Amino acid sequence: MVMVPKKNVEDLAVSGKKVIVRVDFNVPLDKKTGEITDDKRIKGALPTIKYLVENNAKVILVSHLGRPKNGPEAAFSMKPAAVRLSELLDRPVVLASDVIGEDAVAKAAALKDGEVLMLENVRFHKEETKNDPSFAAKLASLADLYVNDAFGTAHRAHASTAGLANFLPSASGYLIQKELEIMGKALSEPARPFVAILGGAKVSDKIGVIENLLDKADAIIIGGGMAYTFDAAKGYSVGASICETDKIDLAKELMAKAEAKGVKLLLPVDNVVANAFAADADSKVVSCDCIEDGWMGLDIGPKTIDIFSETIKTAKTVIWNGPAGVFEFEKFAVGTRAVAKAIAESDAISIIGGGDSAAAVEILGFADQVTHISTGGGASLEFIEGKVLPGIDGLEDKVPCRTFAAGNWKMNCGTPDEATKLIEALKPLVKEATSKIAVGVPFTAIPAALEATAYTNIKVAAQNCHFNDKGAFTGEISPVWLAKMGVTYVILGHSERREYFAETDETVNKKVKAALAVGLKPIICCGESLEQRESGQTFDWVKGQIEGAFAGIPENKLCQITIAYEPIWAIGTGKVASDEQAEEVCAFIRGVIAGLYNQAVADAITIQYGGSVGAGTAQGLFSQANINGGLVGGASLKADDFSKICLA
Ligand code: PGA
Repeated sequence: MVMVPKKNVEDLAVSGKKVIVRVDFNVPLDKKTGEITDDKRIKGALPTIKYLVENNAKVILVSHLGRPKNGPEAAFSMKPAAVRLSELLDRPVVLASDVIGEDAVAKAAALKDGEVLMLENVRFHKEETKNDPSFAAKLASLADLYVNDAFGTAHRAHASTAGLANFLPSASGYLIQKELEIMGKALSEPARPFVAILGGAKVSDKIGVIENLLDKADAIIIGGGMAYTFDAAKGYSVGASICETDKIDLAKELMAKAEAKGVKLLLPVDNVVANAFAADADSKVVSCDCIEDGWMGLDIGPKTIDIFSETIKTAKTVIWNGPAGVFEFEKFAVGTRAVAKAIAESDAISIIGGGDSAAAVEILGFADQVTHISTGGGASLEFIEGKVLPGIDGLEDKVPCRTFAAGNWKMNCGTPDEATKLIEALKPLVKEATSKIAVGVPFTAIPAALEATAYTNIKVAAQNCHFNDKGAFTGEISPVWLAKMGVTYVILGHSERREYFAETDETVNKKVKAALAVGLKPIICCGESLEQRESGQTFDWVKGQIEGAFAGIPENKLCQITIAYEPIWAIGTGKVASDEQAEEVCAFIRGVIAGLYNQAVADAITIQYGGSVGAGTAQGLFSQANINGGLVGGASLKADDFSKICLA
């Protein structure tokens, strides 16, 4: 996965604006007193909140806390977090009694510049975790701008973490930026040797991580419960140790891959075993190949500690995720402490993935001797795994107009099987692409396409939608359904729809508004016929189409919209417009947008060219100043051709 820099809070004009900030104030609370036992996550968000306050924004904070199941519940109130934040900021933090209800709306509306409002726990609404578009729309309506600074939940596609970016101009906060910079750099250009230390109970949680690290690390150290599955794969007896028997073949495969790639895979050579899973169990040290029946490995042994420590001490980059043993029991924390100590004593850039290893480093007292402790457990793991994080992916790019290649499959490739096959073939070919990529699939293939593209850099587009949300429109597709399913884009006003299905500038405009209202990103098509070109009407015609499509669309929605210039005479004819012809009209369209709005939004809007774009012509077209990619029909049906276009 290639990291694309996202806008930072400083890239937004926040003064006097209401800014909704997703923070991760999911802090641990003392079960008896309800007090916050660790405020690291609140402190982590302070730089962003302070920046907004100092720059006269009206700050609306939204977070979840715990896992409330059935609506509002006092035990999950954000109150302790709001109180703690107020102390840390040394200024009042108002708490709304609801999330999108009357109180939140009134308090958000009453905010003055520099004031801070905290909404109630966003998970009091079950729509949050479903990323429900109407819920996200209501939440978005409280504010003008959106900042995401919740790294700990960035791997979740929820309404407040991902959905909001579909409705508001957006940016990342300082915490997300810092997490990405440090971890991104360690993964993409690590100082070597690069040693990854993985632990924790299950291999199954870490398969993707190991596979991705096999391409990057010089050595992978495996400790914790997952080591016993590897031991079993070697044919050793593991006694009563935790072992995933259905993952033994996979462990064999991973060992073979490591060998083939020349990556050192270090497993424990001895273990501390116990006769029960308990803090005071009897224990002894045994060699890793002969754990007797009734005994279970709960920690790594002294020889292993020496070997692991030696390797860690020579490292220049260390990533650690998952403890080496059951460190919650003092007796079995020796291995984990030794790993933490070796990391602390090394002069490597050291990154501790959140969750258990972060807790271990802190409990064992090494927190200030490592480079970075991530505030995200699951999020950091998925990041290391190379997955696209939905909470970051949807934010606006730092540099606008990144190349955007969208395939339009039209009425081809519509069965789930065909779609899955095509996408699976495409995925590895475009993994390293820096462009935005979408596949515009027939409605019947949308669920399959969504499944096949989950957590990748490929997004799904629908080829049309209706302008009503529901009603007696036989055969039509509601934009709400598409948004609820997780579709990102919708192609509107394609010339084929204008020609065969009576699409007009007016219906296109209504559809654009309906799509934006539910957080779907429109790709608006325009373009002239051969007769119009030959009789010199191209510019007037295209101008009319753009003016029609954008009528009544507010400026702050333009960051959601793509324009596709598709001369009808070039579509499906093999007659591609020359680079100059395409550039001339795309530049003209940008000028029309500048006239309707202003130069800044015109400069930032993505304009694609479409019409017989192929693997051979994409490069020339996409390198024109005003062409930011392509809407691709025929060539998008072949993974090989389309991947070349995505990489152009
Ligand atoms: P084509 O189609 O690339 O097959 O010409 C383009 C389009 O209609 O979007």
